[in-house]
Amino acid sequence: MVVSLPKVVVTRRLPGVSLPSLAKLAAVAAPPPDSPMPRDELLRQVPGAAGILCTLADRIDSSLMDAAGPGLKAVSNYGVGVNNIDVAEAGRRAIRVCNTPDVLTQATSDLGFALLLAAARRLSEAERVLRAGKFTGWEPWGFLGVPVYGGTLGIVGMGKIGSAIAARATGFGMRVLYHNRRPLSPDRERALRAEYRGLDDLLAVSDFVVLCVPLTPETRRLMNAERLGRMKPTAVLVNVSRGEVVDEGALAKALSEGRIFAAGIDVYEKEPAVHPDLMAAPKAVLLPHVGSATGETRERMGRLATENLLAVLAGTEPPCAVN
Ligand code: GLV
Repeated sequence: MVVSLPKVVVTRRLPGVSLPSLAKLAAVAAPPPDSPMPRDELLRQVPGAAGILCTLADRIDSSLMDAAGPGLKAVSNYGVGVNNIDVAEAGRRAIRVCNTPDVLTQATSDLGFALLLAAARRLSEAERVLRAGKFTGWEPWGFLGVPVYGGTLGIVGMGKIGSAIAARATGFGMRVLYHNRRPLSPDRERALRAEYRGLDDLLAVSDFVVLCVPLTPETRRLMNAERLGRMKPTAVLVNVSRGEVVDEGALAKALSEGRIFAAGIDVYEKEPAVHPDLMAAPKAVLLPHVGSATGETRERMGRLATENLLAVLAGTEPPCAVN
């Protein structure tokens, strides 16, 4: 008897995802190297698929699940945020949704702290001047920033990444405040030396506000004009979560009016587009969504995404399921 392999669609060639190894266990459809699978191609590929291994750039919604048909069992996301996937709809259809937490916590936290330092000390702005050949010698008033050491760090979203950023703050002598849906246990607060605050209070007293929340209906545009207006004029905003958590236009306006000091941003509302006013803001340090971008982390993400996918297809519990 010939047993046919389950069909798996991999939407992009990814570090740590070995297509030859996968092909021993599944019939794999994948795009050529270096090109993501466009949505119309994905819709053409998914009929009959038992599994999809996707990235945050793929929208896995009910129409895609319809196209795949009732055989779809697993959506394995290469990344921790699953806002690109309709998880509730997947649940209704008994499709397991998996992601890659933990393996990217330290890399993303390093990047969050790097953005905090870069924005506070105006690193990108200063480097742009130097590269433009405009460094004319040491300047007593050149590129004055705000001090990081001893500042107050306000973390919005004290999950794994938020906690890892809090741990980094210890070496900088910072006081750590945090806001979460629910306060942490007193033991955890003690371990992180972090104090719980209401969001408005945290925004008003923090020198650095770092956003680490997942994107949900409650966190969409959490940082709107009103909340940005609660921050100190000397404060720095850092976003390593999702772009839609911040009203980009309002952020650009707050920067241009000097209502906050600087911003360090890795994620955008309409990636890969960036709000033109933010592009024009000298004190915004802007990165192209590179939070998890170290070779080792990306390899580990790929291995975990593959493990998740294969576990569901084998009918066993995946290491990291979100439903
Ligand atoms: C990256 O943004 C991720 O969610 O893993």
